[in-house]
This record gives sequence, C-alpha cells and structure tokens, in this order.
Amino acid sequence: MLYPDTRGRRLRRSEGIRRMVRETRLSPEDLVLPLFVVGGNDVRRPIEAMPGQFQFSIDRLLAAAREAYGLGIPAVILFGVPDRKDALGTSAYAADGIVQRAVRSLKEALPDLVVITDVCLCQYTDHGHCGIVEKGRIHNDATLELLARTAVSHAKAGADLVAPSDMMDGRVAEIREALDENGFEEVAILAYSAKYCSAFYGPFRTAADSAPKFGDRRSYQMDPANALEALREVTMDIEEGADIVMVKPALAYLDIIQRVRQEFDLPVAAYNVSGEYAMIKAAETMGWLDGKRAMMETLTAIKRAGADLILTYFAPEAARLLRDAGPGGA
Ligand code: PBG
Repeated sequence: MLYPDTRGRRLRRSEGIRRMVRETRLSPEDLVLPLFVVGGNDVRRPIEAMPGQFQFSIDRLLAAAREAYGLGIPAVILFGVPDRKDALGTSAYAADGIVQRAVRSLKEALPDLVVITDVCLCQYTDHGHCGIVEKGRIHNDATLELLARTAVSHAKAGADLVAPSDMMDGRVAEIREALDENGFEEVAILAYSAKYCSAFYGPFRTAADSAPKFGDRRSYQMDPANALEALREVTMDIEEGADIVMVKPALAYLDIIQRVRQEFDLPVAAYNVSGEYAMIKAAETMGWLDGKRAMMETLTAIKRAGADLILTYFAPEAARLLRDAGPGGA
C-alpha cells in the first residue's frame, strides 16, 4: 500500500502512540557501570577526558557503586590502577591487589551487586602491554598463565564474573580451566571476544594509565576493517567456555553487534567505550549538541543493534533520566 492509503505519520502523532509502538526500550537493567579504583583513602580524582568520571579509592568506590545499584543498575566492572608496575604485572594477581581488595569490600557492603572484574595486564605491566613481552613481541602462551592467575585471584576475592580483555589466543579456555580447578566453576566469563584496535580507547588509557610504552596493540586487538574475523573470535571464545560475549567498541561496530546477536545464542554485551563517552561530553560542553539526547540515542541504538548488556560510563546518568521520565521511558 502506498500513500495516500497508508501514512507512516499516523503512528508518530502523539507521545502516547509513539510509546505504544516503540520497539526498543532501554532500562537500567541493561547497563553495567565501569569504575576505576586506586589506592589511598578519600580519593575521588576527576578523569580529565571523561567529565563526570573519577578514579576512586575503595571507600569512595563503595559510595559510587551504592548509588548505581540504587538506580537499578545491576552490575559494575572494575578496573584497577595499581601503585606499582613491573614486567610481569605481578600486582594484577596479588591477593592484596587493588582490584582484589575492592571486590572484597564491594561484596561485603553490597552482596547483591554483580561485580565483574576486567582481567588484563596492561595497567600492571611497566611496558603497558596486555601480555608478557619477549624480544619486543607480545608472547601469547606465556601470558595465559598470568591471566588465569589473575582471574582466579579475582574469583577468590568474590568476583561474580571475570572479563578477559587482553585478546590473547586461548585465554578463555585457560581461565575456565583454572577457575574450575580452584573450585570456581560457578564464576562466569564475560569475554571481550571481538575487541578492536581502536582510537576510541584514548581517554581510558589516561584514566587507567595503561597506554603501551612502545608500539601499539595491533598484533593482538582486531583490525577495524574486519567483520568475519569477529565471528571467528566469538566462535572460539564460545567453544572455550565464554558465558557472555562482547563487542568493543560499540558505536562504530553496530554491524558487528547485530551479526553476533543473529548468529549466536549467548547473551551479547557491547562496550560503549571511553572515547564514545568523551565525544558526547565534549560536544555537550561546547554547546554543540544536547548531550542527554545524544546519550539516550546512542544507548538505544546499541540495544537496537542487539546488545543485551551495555557497559557504559553513562549508566548512572541514563538510569536517572529513565527513572525521572517515568513509565514508558525517555
Ligand atoms: C584493557 C582495556 C582497555 C579498555 C578496557 N579494557 C584499553 C585497551 O585495550 O587499550 C578500554 C575501555 C574504554 O576505552 O572505555 N585492555
């Protein structure tokens, strides 16, 4: 049927009708809040390129997590910023490491909050790479054991899910095996399966002090030009035991989110990364766009593409907006 017999505008006529036929509804339950944790006390250090985000000491982290939980956000993902770094990233898997201590405090204070930990070495190594460096190259197989050790130490502290973000081959299987051997068969793995080598991680690397000191991450993170490779990576991670698979970044990779959603039956997460957050915040600060609307449009698009979970620095702001907008949403 063609115009004038049919008119698309009939269903856009009022907010009531638009609400009735809306296909995608964002909810606080879709969101996971990334948090940066540092040593010390009473620290709430603003992250310059991520307005509204902070490095928190554990005491202040609790308040941020409690606020998020109170807004209906079910989960946080922790990134540690350690006091010392070395070639083997030993503070990543220390029993009293910053993430391990933060997890213990969070689970004690908020037992129902889902605590996810990022499992990687780049914040903890003095060279800033996500793996062990040998003769200037990132050694895949030597890295696996350290990642597994890190994951087990997080599980011991009480993490509900561990999230390997290093992009080494075989790490999901190695982590699954180590968790099981240590009695953590119920701790789930959220795998950063299709993680691209992206310029959009820029602000994060300042926030987490994790920029590589030489070279780049192209030998382990994926080429932004590739889509089929993402499907292969997801297939491998699922076969190795991933419980949730993730696409990262989100906005420039909506096609990948959609394809992964269509081809696999596991929950799919998407990471709305630091650079995506910073772009909207910067344009909002300049008065060049309506930041809140751009935020909601972005998050809705990521969900529409097929993400079941969205890791986003916007989580509390979006949840607050959804709450204030009442039933039907923003
Ligand atoms: C660590 C890690 C990174 C991010 C999450 N985990 C940075 C990187 O790979 O360089 C980026 C998150 C963001 O930009 O918000 N491997």
